[in-house]
Amino acid sequence: MNKKGLLLIIVLFVTLLFIAGCETLSLNTKYDYLVLVNKYSKLPNDWEPNVRLVTTKNAWKEDIQVEEKAYEKYKELKEALKEEGVTIELDSAYRSVEEQQNLWDEWSKDPEKGIEYVKKYVAVPGYSEHHTGLAIDICLKKDGKLVYDNDDMIADRETFAKIHKKLADYGFILRYLEGRDEITGYAYEPWHLRYIDNVEIAKEIMKKDITFEEYLDSIKDVKGTESAAKYQIMKYMKSYLEESYGDKITDSRYNVTKVYTVEEEKKDPTLKNIKFGEKDIAFTIEYDLKPAKEELVNDIAATAGVYDSDTGWIKNYSGVGVLRYDKKKKNYYIDNFGTSF
Ligand code: DAL
Ligand code: ZN
Repeated sequence: MNKKGLLLIIVLFVTLLFIAGCETLSLNTKYDYLVLVNKYSKLPNDWEPNVRLVTTKNAWKEDIQVEEKAYEKYKELKEALKEEGVTIELDSAYRSVEEQQNLWDEWSKDPEKGIEYVKKYVAVPGYSEHHTGLAIDICLKKDGKLVYDNDDMIADRETFAKIHKKLADYGFILRYLEGRDEITGYAYEPWHLRYIDNVEIAKEIMKKDITFEEYLDSIKDVKGTESAAKYQIMKYMKSYLEESYGDKITDSRYNVTKVYTVEEEKKDPTLKNIKFGEKDIAFTIEYDLKPAKEELVNDIAATAGVYDSDTGWIKNYSGVGVLRYDKKKKNYYIDNFGTSF
């Protein structure tokens, strides 16, 4: 083989390696472990096709699925707790929207529970953290018997205190804290663990005894993370809209349904005049205003823009509002309602 041929093969080989590397990289970064799914922020549309689930058995030997990393860390947590004399088992983890619907229907029909109880403990299908595969409901095994009833578990404070103490070491947080219903939207659930894949942040959240919502809210400079930006946008648009349309909106679920990467957004032909900065996060907000849809759809159907993580400004290109960050007051506000530029 001549020199040129050899060079060509080397170049081809290096290119293939590079492509394979990129593939692995993009596989690893397909989803955001800090994703926020709550009453107002539904599961991102691109989550289901990307999430990597493993199948295992729950305490009743039924097949259940868990996000693969969350499952690995769950097993480590379980082992560590065993050494302290606490046995935990899996109850429920990943749930599809359909499964959540079945749960909702089943519990609503249960005469001992009723709709008010269901609203306190069960998320509306599409808005459950269980759809992510990162939420795990555990139950206990004590003296050979399973303890899985909600009230029985809430009463066992001693055991759950031991469990909660260990969560952060394995990248888990407690999601629905006691007395924080106003923030999380749900009653205390000592059994509902959430994997966030970041021990440092998990430790901060557990040490400060704050909710995930409060943590995301506390990152004022947003540190360039998509989840934090998404949360800020959702929160401030929501409060703005509630102020303007509060009495007309009875089902107030405003969502950031997708946060695009800048690369994705650059491909959008309507954005050809936008100059993106290196650290920009592009976003699109869609609103789901069911009862008031006809009346409001033209005003607030959607907005889209680019979040600049250096300045904290949203560079808006269409839609209804501009989210701004006031550096002095260290807060966000929305102005230019109805503007498009
Ligand atoms: N139990 C939690 C809130 C859910 O249903 O997702
Ligand atoms: Zn749960």
